[in-house]
Amino acid sequence: MYENSRLIIDSSNPPESGEIIWRSPSNIAIVKYWGKYGIQLPKNPSLSLTLASSITDTRLSYSLKAEDDAAISLDFEFQGEPNEAFAKKIVAYLESLSAVFPFLRQLDLKIESGNSFPHSAGIASSASAMSALALCLCSLEDRLFGTLQDPDTFDKKASYLARLGSGSACRSIYPYAAVWGETPSVAGSSNEYAVCVADQLHETFKDFHDDILIVSQDEKSVSSRDGHALMDGNPYAEPRYAQARTRMGLLLDAMKAGDLEAFGKIAEDEALALHALMMTSNPSYILMRPDSLAIIEKVRQYRLDTKIPLYFTLDAGPNVHLLYPGAHVQDVRAFIEQELSEHCDSGYVQQDWVGEGPEEL
Ligand code: PMV
Repeated sequence: MYENSRLIIDSSNPPESGEIIWRSPSNIAIVKYWGKYGIQLPKNPSLSLTLASSITDTRLSYSLKAEDDAAISLDFEFQGEPNEAFAKKIVAYLESLSAVFPFLRQLDLKIESGNSFPHSAGIASSASAMSALALCLCSLEDRLFGTLQDPDTFDKKASYLARLGSGSACRSIYPYAAVWGETPSVAGSSNEYAVCVADQLHETFKDFHDDILIVSQDEKSVSSRDGHALMDGNPYAEPRYAQARTRMGLLLDAMKAGDLEAFGKIAEDEALALHALMMTSNPSYILMRPDSLAIIEKVRQYRLDTKIPLYFTLDAGPNVHLLYPGAHVQDVRAFIEQELSEHCDSGYVQQDWVGEGPEEL
C-alpha cells in the first residue's frame, strides 16, 4: 500500500546526519484483537485506550553510508545495552520495509530504545516499542523527502507501519482511544491501520485510569503470536469474531454516552472471552493464575459493596488491569494497597491512565 521507489536519497546532494526521538505509549484493548490473517490483519475490529505512563523512548540516529551496499546497517541498544535478539527482529522488520522505505539501505542506522517499565513485567511492550519505531521512521522519511507534512497522512502511515511490527501497536499512535479493523460504527476504519476515536468519547474516558496489577513477571507459556495462530483451529473462532463485531458498536455507544456500567460489562466480558478462547484452543492453555482470579473476585465484590465503577480487563497474560474514572483514584488506590497488592509479584503495580498519545522529543 505504501511502496514507493522514489524514496531514494540523491547521493549528489547528501543529507546531514541527524537523530529523531519519539516517546510512545502502550495501549489496553477493551474489545480485543485475537485472531489474524494475511500479514498481521485482524479477524475482528478492536478498540483500545491509549496509556500514558507505560512508554518506550526510541532514538533513531542516521548518517549516509560511506559505501553503497544493500544490507541494512543497524546498531541497536535496549536499555543502554546491545541486545542481539531484539536487533535481529528489528533488522528483519526493516528489511521487510525495503519497498516502503528504499532509503533505509543507504543509511547507517542506530536505534536506542528504553521502556519506563521492566521489560519482563508482562506489560505489552511491543505496542509502545513498535509504535515508537514506526513514528521515528515516518519522521525520517519526512525529514529526508518532505513527504509526510500532513498530520493525518503521517499518523496513518505510522499506524500502518506499527501494525506490521506488532498488530496492536497500530492503536498506540493516537490520543485517548483508537479503533483498528473495519467496522460500520467508525467511518474510515480499516484493517490496515487504526483510526482515532477520541472525538467520539464522553469526557469520562479522557480522565480514566488503568492500574496494572503485576501478578507474575514470568515469561508467558504461550506467546501472543502462537495464541493468534491457535485461533485458526478453534471451534469458537467464528462466533467469537461475530461477538467482537457486535460489541464494537455497543462499546462505542457506551463510550459516547459515558455509560460506565455498559462499558465495564463489555470490558470484563471481553477479558474473559479472550481467556476462554485460550482454554478452548487445541492444545488448550491457561494464562490466568490463581491470584488473577482472586483479584477479579475482590474487584466484583468491591463494586457491589461501594458502587464505585471499578472494572477489570486482562491482556494475554495473568496481570489484571483495573479500569476506573479519575474521580475515584484515591479510593481505588487505597483498595489496591489494602486488598490487592498481596496478589502481585513483589507487590508491583504499574499505575497508568489514559493519555494524549505519542510525542516527538
Ligand atoms: O499485538 P499482538 O500480536 O501482541 O496481540 C495482542 C493481543 C491482545 O493484547 C491480547 C489484545 C489486543 O487487542 O491488544
